[in-house]
Amino acid sequence: METDATEAAAELPEPERAAERPWWRDAVVYQVYIRSFADANGDGTGDLAGVRAHLPYLAALGVDALWFNPWYPSPLADAGYDIVDYRSIEPAFGTLSEAEQLIAEARALGLRTIVDIVPNHVSSQHPWFTEALVAPAGSAARRRFWFRPGKGAEGELPPNEWQSIFGGPAWTRVADGEWYLHLFAPEQPDLNWERLEVWEEHEDILRFWFDRGVAGVRIDSAALLVKDPELPEELPDAAPGEHPFTDRDSLHDVYRRWRAVADSYVEPRVLVGEVWLPDAERLARYLRPDELHTAFNFDFLACPWEPGPMRTSIESALASHAPVDAPATWVLSNHDVTRSVTRYGRADTGFAFETKREGTPTDLLRGKRRARAAALLAMALPGSMYIYQGEELGLPEVENIPPEKRQDPMWLRSGGVDPGRDGCRVALPWSGTKPPYGFSPSHNVRLWLDHQPDDWAPLSVEAQTADPGSMLSLYRAGLRIRHLAPWGVGSQLSWLDYGDDVIAFERGEGFLCIVNFGSQPLELPEGVDVLMGSAELVGDKLSQDTTVWLIQTTDRAAFDPEQTRTQHSS
Ligand code: NOJ
Repeated sequence: METDATEAAAELPEPERAAERPWWRDAVVYQVYIRSFADANGDGTGDLAGVRAHLPYLAALGVDALWFNPWYPSPLADAGYDIVDYRSIEPAFGTLSEAEQLIAEARALGLRTIVDIVPNHVSSQHPWFTEALVAPAGSAARRRFWFRPGKGAEGELPPNEWQSIFGGPAWTRVADGEWYLHLFAPEQPDLNWERLEVWEEHEDILRFWFDRGVAGVRIDSAALLVKDPELPEELPDAAPGEHPFTDRDSLHDVYRRWRAVADSYVEPRVLVGEVWLPDAERLARYLRPDELHTAFNFDFLACPWEPGPMRTSIESALASHAPVDAPATWVLSNHDVTRSVTRYGRADTGFAFETKREGTPTDLLRGKRRARAAALLAMALPGSMYIYQGEELGLPEVENIPPEKRQDPMWLRSGGVDPGRDGCRVALPWSGTKPPYGFSPSHNVRLWLDHQPDDWAPLSVEAQTADPGSMLSLYRAGLRIRHLAPWGVGSQLSWLDYGDDVIAFERGEGFLCIVNFGSQPLELPEGVDVLMGSAELVGDKLSQDTTVWLIQTTDRAAFDPEQTRTQHSS
């Protein structure tokens, strides 16, 4: 059975969207990792001009918004998450005026812009920190950060045992003997959110970008900002809200202030939190009506490709978001985690930073098949969705980057034990048969991360555009149908029972999404049309690791009297 999904979608009517329904509740947001997206000036690093040149590609893909990883001036100790100036653009990427043009051009194509804000820490080269370094202990300049005397007879030991998320102590000693806190790299000193000027500075930064037409912000490390000023040791059994630097209750006051800023615009701006919390109820507290709008669903991202855990993850997200009336988000990858094609090709298909290792046996064909099925599952769920650049191309993790070319502090600070995140940050292949695959106009340039695989020609945008069976074609067709919302805008789902190996649900009137995880081919229900599938049906059955979107034949007339979809009724 074959389905020309694009043709089928073309016949679906545009859905009725209530004028007042906020765009972000169902948005598809595409994550642009600028350094690796497209290089226009030929220096081997992606730039804003490269993004502008490819805006039509992004509009045609069918996404609603672009989230840019930090684009500010940065020494790049942590790939731009170490910011020197929050109101300017990294010169390697372009200028502020180019950013303004990009925001306007994107919007003209229907793409909103979300910028990354990093409030937990600044670069050690940020003027506040360089001022603090030369200021005396106890000064106002130092109180913007967490400076403390050390322990031990000579103060030679860190003030406490906190460990950096990138490995090693979370404290570094400065020339006069004091120590400062950095939950990440030493080049990323943590700000002290006990200080009012830290609050004021960030609210001003928000306005700076909102005034330039930015539609929202992605908030980095959003649960870490507030620390217990006593800086006590971490206790393994700390109650929720009582950990010394994660998810502290007073953090919500910060976001209430930010929400007021966001809501003060005629088109209210949107706050998206990067909140890594295992407790779904605690996460939902950030999404109360006067706080953030949405948060990344890392539970879904990290979930193994297994029907039980997947269904539990979806149920838990929907159940925890409902009381605060926030949409769930569906995220399969980002710039910090192993790419889904690789992850899903392993025996352990879940993700955890602690166990992330390279060289694990991986079946990439299987991983790709599952990633395709996961993409259609995510697209059909109620809420918004994130796509990390290259996910639509089915790029695998690049695992054999030579040590001397690696750049990620996770790799460097773990002494190479943790492979870090370079493998998901390799430059995109656009066209051609060999590196740099159209990423840069210069053929001999050394890319910032100098390791594009030799076998990526079939994965390029050019190659996949010509192939109706490609991952890119799947994303284009799926997003097109998603935009038409055959389930009815904003509808919820009802679970269907097709056995333990299957996730199946109905949305709206007569739309069905079925995912078969099991080895036993699954008979489709009667009286349905296939809208599209992640793989072809085999003898009218859904084979393993396949998702299919169905619409009841009786409802077909509501969409399209033509026979553009494959009928499956007997
Ligand atoms: C989360 C970001 O996604 C990650 O890339 C970064 O290293 C840390 N926050 C620190 O800013």
